[in-house]
Amino acid sequence: MPPNFRLMEEHTPTPQERVDRLIQEINRHNYQYYMLDNPTISDYDFDQLLQQLIDLEAAYPELRRPDSPTQRVGGEVTKHFESAAHLYPMQSLGNTYSAEDLTEFDRRVRELLATPPTYVCELKYDGVAISLIYENGTLVRAVTRGDGTRGDVVTANVRTIRTIPLKLQGDFPPLIEVRGEIIMPFSSFEQLNTEREEIGEAPFANPRNAASGSLKLQDSSEVAKRGLDFKLYFGLGEQLPANNHFDRLMKLHEWGFRKPDVMEKVADLQGVYDFLHTWDEKRKSLPYPIDGVVIKVNDFDQQRQVGATAKSPRWAIAYKFKADRVSTKLLSVDFQVGRTGIVTPVANLSPVSLAGTVVKRATLNNRDFMREMDIREGDSLFVEKGGEIIPKIVGVDLENRLPDAQRVPFVTHCPVCGTPLQQAEGEAGVFCPNADHCAPQIKGRLEHFIARKAMNIDSLGEGKIDMLYANGLVNNIADLYSLTYEQLLGLEKVIEDADGKTKTLSFREKTVQNILSGIETSKQVPFERVVFALGIRFVGEVTAKKLARHFETMDAIANAPKEELMTVEDVGERVADSIIDYFNNTENLEILMRLREAGLQFELDKSQNQPVSQALAGKSIVVSGVFSIPRDTIKELVEKHGGKNVSSISKNTSFVLAGEKMGPEKRKKAEALGIPIVSEEEFMNMIQA
Ligand code: IVH
Repeated sequence: MPPNFRLMEEHTPTPQERVDRLIQEINRHNYQYYMLDNPTISDYDFDQLLQQLIDLEAAYPELRRPDSPTQRVGGEVTKHFESAAHLYPMQSLGNTYSAEDLTEFDRRVRELLATPPTYVCELKYDGVAISLIYENGTLVRAVTRGDGTRGDVVTANVRTIRTIPLKLQGDFPPLIEVRGEIIMPFSSFEQLNTEREEIGEAPFANPRNAASGSLKLQDSSEVAKRGLDFKLYFGLGEQLPANNHFDRLMKLHEWGFRKPDVMEKVADLQGVYDFLHTWDEKRKSLPYPIDGVVIKVNDFDQQRQVGATAKSPRWAIAYKFKADRVSTKLLSVDFQVGRTGIVTPVANLSPVSLAGTVVKRATLNNRDFMREMDIREGDSLFVEKGGEIIPKIVGVDLENRLPDAQRVPFVTHCPVCGTPLQQAEGEAGVFCPNADHCAPQIKGRLEHFIARKAMNIDSLGEGKIDMLYANGLVNNIADLYSLTYEQLLGLEKVIEDADGKTKTLSFREKTVQNILSGIETSKQVPFERVVFALGIRFVGEVTAKKLARHFETMDAIANAPKEELMTVEDVGERVADSIIDYFNNTENLEILMRLREAGLQFELDKSQNQPVSQALAGKSIVVSGVFSIPRDTIKELVEKHGGKNVSSISKNTSFVLAGEKMGPEKRKKAEALGIPIVSEEEFMNMIQA
């Protein structure tokens, strides 16, 4: 027998072994990347490994494990979050803003102890508290704080957070509860709000609200895109090693959690003060929000001796940073009109230095906010800059109010076009309904249309759009396609530089050619992006794609009844109404006609997504529950085999593809309508046939 033969035989792994090995390897790389910030392979190689695992799990669904890293991309949809009791109540912390209170805290602690305590100082993360339950090393449940006794089960969503291990490593005990904060880093927060503004959704006020809103999303694959992070601060359980808090967190780190970025043992109050002064300053350079520091007695015996009240432990206290706050004079209020017509009041302030920058303007949010604050002419306003980079108006400095000062009125008519404003139903904002003839709305729509994610006409930009509009050459998106070389050549704009000197810019030959060729090229932009580019309120990039794939032509979208629009995933009543409004507007219809004539893509290019088979041709399929592969991959398979994904069950549904934990409501409805329910395995057989 050749010497290698036996070896070869021994080393042909079974699918089970391959899955185990891949999981092990991917987990190791995840750990290097997310926990140690020290990746040892390229992103490309990593994606290859993950894809191998996805493919294997698809081929052998029975080998899928709840701790598989493929769970990170989400896919489970939770319609209603169940509630669960906490193993140990989730208490809160006593708060203080003053150094004296800390002295008092230290005095009380010392009074109750025979030997002086060591304190652990940590950051107070500004997010949402979460409890994570690990049974035999596997994350089985994630529960929000709720009322402290019971919270909401948000496990599928939490599994998408990469710094939360799905499986522990090492010598962990059978049952552990880990607590910490789910936070949204500033970078994710800004990206999310930009995207929301793009589709006319109200931005989140701060990263905490954004984190909390994200945790309650129904579709975990959406949560996966929100860039949430987890900060560890507590470990609980019967058989946990370590007799103090610091060592326990280190133990949790050994088992797979990220170490707290900052955690310091200090011997006395002076150490506590040093820590909090350092972090009051340094927090400005942290990539995520904190709103204070937490001071804990380190030793568990000492913690027990100090005890707890019904609400909070006596052995720990939160010191909250005072937000930097100044009072400054309100000079005037501007009213700005956005792309969707919403009018936002903005305060012009007497310039004032606040936490390192000069503040001259701050938003007054909307009409209701101005009323509630009771802002009057000549008032001085308190401006605050907390963890949230953007200065916020938090109140009126009444001591500086002038006698008989009158309320600052909110405009009743559009400050740009003069149209009477309207109140949007169920919203705090008022808007200018003159969408088709109000300059900022027209320019905003043009800017949205040419944006990279839309028609990607990068030879045009905000400045050039301004010029074209000011010269009466474009009033709507269709006008772009009628521009001629002669109209553009020599077009001029006078600009003022920093010294007040004026210069005249004019379009030269090269610029004009660029603009026209950019516009020409945009005619090849795929249908999905054309739908997005129209700027239909509430229809973002993802929804546009889903609409395009479902309906396949612009006419089909335009003529779809509300019920059919609502079968598309992500399209609820509000979005459906907005689409219908858009296509009921005669000016929009005229624009669409001209865009079609200009040669824009009004149909889905099926050659791009050529089905690999017609096994599901003509079938409308509802995919529900958890599968061995991400739900989005299942949906892609539906499309690749000629089927159509729909979100809700109706008499027109061909079958429901049910994974584990399919919602009972859906099952009931399918049964009532006599719609067949197909398992993942049966589905795989269908498409393989
Ligand atoms: S310890 C028994 N440590 O602040 C209380 N909490 O009111 C255990 N928080 O809801 C909490 N950072 O969500 C602790 N380093 C930290 C924290 C922290 C943020 C939150 C936590 C809790 C609230 C306290």
